[in-house]
Amino acid sequence: MTTGRRAPRILIIHGPNLNMLGRRDASWYGRSTLEEINAEIRQAAHVLGMEAETFQSNHEGAIVEKLQQAVSGYDAVIINPAAYTHTSIAIRDALEILDIPVIEVHLSNIYKREAFRHWSFVADVATARIAGFGKAGYIMAVEAIAKMVGRTQS
Ligand code: DQA
Repeated sequence: MTTGRRAPRILIIHGPNLNMLGRRDASWYGRSTLEEINAEIRQAAHVLGMEAETFQSNHEGAIVEKLQQAVSGYDAVIINPAAYTHTSIAIRDALEILDIPVIEVHLSNIYKREAFRHWSFVADVATARIAGFGKAGYIMAVEAIAKMVGRTQS
């Protein structure tokens, strides 16, 4: 929840292999590195009067523990669970505990890809999903959160 006058805080979680962006298939994921994308996310949040904290892990349990920390002190979560999207009940259960907006982001349009990527354990516990816009999807999510927490007009 937004408390007092502090800037709204967004937690951005990147799942496995997203630390390898820049080396992964550019036709799905673009050429930017995760560091470059994170810098753009932080800047977009800053312009809108918010703070963005970024976190990446290749480990399911580390992502679950980070989400558990988000039960207080954060106003929204943006998560690209990467391959865990399609496999992780643990991440789904951790997201279900949160009572703040959760935006699921995918760089690629998972529905244009292999059938095993069409299922998301996260989709119905997320507030909304953005997929297929590449790194711009993260900025769209930040802008949507700004509207949700009242930093801009809808
Ligand atoms: C992804 C799509 C997933 O299927 C894949 O495992 C990823 C990235 C995306 O951003 O498009 O690692 O979440």
